[in-house]
Amino acid sequence: MKFKYYGHSAFSLSDEAGTTILFDPFIQDNPWTKVSPEDIACQYIFVSHGHGDHYGDTEIIAKTQQALVISTAEIAALSGAHGCKNHALHIGGSWNFPFGRITLTPALHGSGISGGLACGCIVEFAGKRIYYAGDTGLFSDMKLVSRFGPIDCAILPIGDNFTMGIEDAALAASWIRPKFVVPVHYGTWPMVDQDPKRYKELTETKYDIPVQIITPGTEYTF
Ligand code: NI
Ligand code: MN
Repeated sequence: MKFKYYGHSAFSLSDEAGTTILFDPFIQDNPWTKVSPEDIACQYIFVSHGHGDHYGDTEIIAKTQQALVISTAEIAALSGAHGCKNHALHIGGSWNFPFGRITLTPALHGSGISGGLACGCIVEFAGKRIYYAGDTGLFSDMKLVSRFGPIDCAILPIGDNFTMGIEDAALAASWIRPKFVVPVHYGTWPMVDQDPKRYKELTETKYDIPVQIITPGTEYTF
């Protein structure tokens, strides 16, 4: 499994067969990346909520790549109204896609779209189980994330102000008990200017859960 990080909460997961799922593709206005959205190859796009730093360039990429947008019903409908192929789910629901299974999880956050809800997801793909929290505050139902089996990688926001900060994201890791955590949603602007090294130090020393900091623009294989 290859994790490619574009910075903020934009990343992709790819298997060896060339299937790529792109998450929260905030690309054009993302200070971390100079990649052009038209140049990102993917077959699926997962969107956690409608805020601009997550929905981002979903429509451009979905239409360029003929990629399937996977999200809550409201976001899926929004993308569909702009000509994107989409699959709507909602919180607690799962679906078996050709690449594997996605379950939508709750997130404590604004939806960015009227009548909607923000979400995260559990992805079963290429023999791994990954939890992406989306934008969220800490909530104790994160203890249920591993109910389908152990989480290989948890992707958690640490930027504070809009989401969990470092202390809460470390506690979240202790509840999820993944093999490792990848911190996201930090350093993009002054309001989310948190140090991932401080998060790594706290999570590893206090809770004994490894943290993998991935530099924007690089890939990590696990
Ligand atoms: Ni948000
Ligand atoms: Mn955000």
